[in-house]
Amino acid sequence: MKWAETDVDFVSKLSCHNRFRKFKKNHEICGMRKPVIAIDGYSSTGKSSISKIIAARLGLVHMDTGALYRGITYFAIKNCLNKSGEIDLQSLFSKLNEVNLEFTEVENELVLLLNTKDISKEIRSNEVSSQVSLIASQKEVRDFLMDTQRSIAAKGGVIMDGRDIGTVVLPNADYKFFLTASIEERTKRRFLELQGLGLPSEEHEVRHNLITRDKIDSERSVAPLKQADDAILIDNSNLTKHETIDLILSYIKHF
Ligand code: DC
Repeated sequence: MKWAETDVDFVSKLSCHNRFRKFKKNHEICGMRKPVIAIDGYSSTGKSSISKIIAARLGLVHMDTGALYRGITYFAIKNCLNKSGEIDLQSLFSKLNEVNLEFTEVENELVLLLNTKDISKEIRSNEVSSQVSLIASQKEVRDFLMDTQRSIAAKGGVIMDGRDIGTVVLPNADYKFFLTASIEERTKRRFLELQGLGLPSEEHEVRHNLITRDKIDSERSVAPLKQADDAILIDNSNLTKHETIDLILSYIKHF
């Protein structure tokens, strides 16, 4: 199921400067507030694709917060390298005001625009994947993205996936889930995802990248990846995507 097949009216554009150009009235149906759902967990546990389908089923906005961190990383690679070819963090911080990230809908798919350029494919590259945890560990970057994430959830009707949604961004979410799976299974999933995108990769590199990212994400001092005390833990190593979705939906009672 494509995200927008049943849900095209809901999210149209979201900007990191809080310019919600077309954020339609999807938060309430017949005066009932829709839930806020936080999905956190390890890389390649299917958080985003699962959230996208649940959003379409329940009529919620889906926000893939990892894509935002990837978008900033892509910007840094293009605009903030030092002479040795490494990202200069100070240069990135000073240029954050030039970053305008938007989700927009193209042919029933949400694509990420960086200053109007579609970067949906580029943000999945190994180059971005190998640098994104460094960028996501920076307080300046996390602060920059915080308002955007919180304001979209303010009226309810949102499913947001990431690493710190249940712990930091939306600690009062109505439902919180934390996804995990074995490294073998996650490697297989990411490898297939990259193949599907036509991005060449070696399986051992994919595995190494996942392990490294999870370590950096879990050990950073600002908003580390961890299960919220009140989150429901789901290990989907042996579950299909649809079994995982059904399990999550089975907890969402008051809707
Ligand atoms: O979900 P993903 O693999 O696309 O996320 C990319 C990186 O962004 C991941 O290594 C951790 C970081 N991230 C984060 O720190 N906080 C979030 N809420 C979402 C992602």
